[in-house]
Amino acid sequence: MNNVTVVDHPLIQHKLTIMRNKETSIAGFRRLLREIAHLLCYEVTRDLELELIPIETPMAEMMAPAIKGKKLVFASILRAGNGLLEGMLDLVPAARVAHIGMYRDHETLEPVEYYFKAPSNLQDRLIIVVDPMLATANSATAAIDKLKERGANNIRFLCLLAAPEGVARFTEAHPDVPVFTASIDSHLNELGYIMPGLGDAGDRMYGTK
Ligand code: PRP
Ligand code: URA
Repeated sequence: MNNVTVVDHPLIQHKLTIMRNKETSIAGFRRLLREIAHLLCYEVTRDLELELIPIETPMAEMMAPAIKGKKLVFASILRAGNGLLEGMLDLVPAARVAHIGMYRDHETLEPVEYYFKAPSNLQDRLIIVVDPMLATANSATAAIDKLKERGANNIRFLCLLAAPEGVARFTEAHPDVPVFTASIDSHLNELGYIMPGLGDAGDRMYGTK
């Protein structure tokens, strides 16, 4: 699929298998999500532009590479996005953060927005939207609509698991937004859950039901 990268690194796949296992504890699930976020962050930022800046080592002056441009924005779709966000911030601690509060109505599967707060100057920044699950893609599509309304024009979407139906819907709605995921699973079930998936990511992270 165009514009979709499946990050199939063995470490990611191994950790993801443990996350999928229903016997994995809440603490283990959270820790693994954070670890996988490190590895996915490495991939989604692989082509960031560098510039040379002057520094002085203890030995000599030099021109050394640093990431060019304004600080990145990580946009977390609440709640489960925060699990990926923490790992991303471990690697890019100076990133700005947007929070998009959204949950999907269990009957209609339509997203319900309850919070939005984003840094200014979205039009000048790379925005990486994070949410572990891309199921129907209703949430991710609506979150990105909202960011675009606020001027964002350079966006990537990072998730852990995607359903083929969600990938198709998302790439049709936002063909300009590259998608990075650790897996595209088999299908969505009749309740809109990813199969075989890992269940409800938010509930597994926070011990709710
Ligand atoms: C989950 C997940 C995504 C959404 C994906 O959130 O974290 O945001 O579902 O489903 P979709 O692609 O069909 O929209 P949920 O609505 O369960 O909220 P939560 O993170 O607060 O638990
Ligand atoms: N949201 C989840 O947390 N899990 C799914 O399988 C689908 C949507």
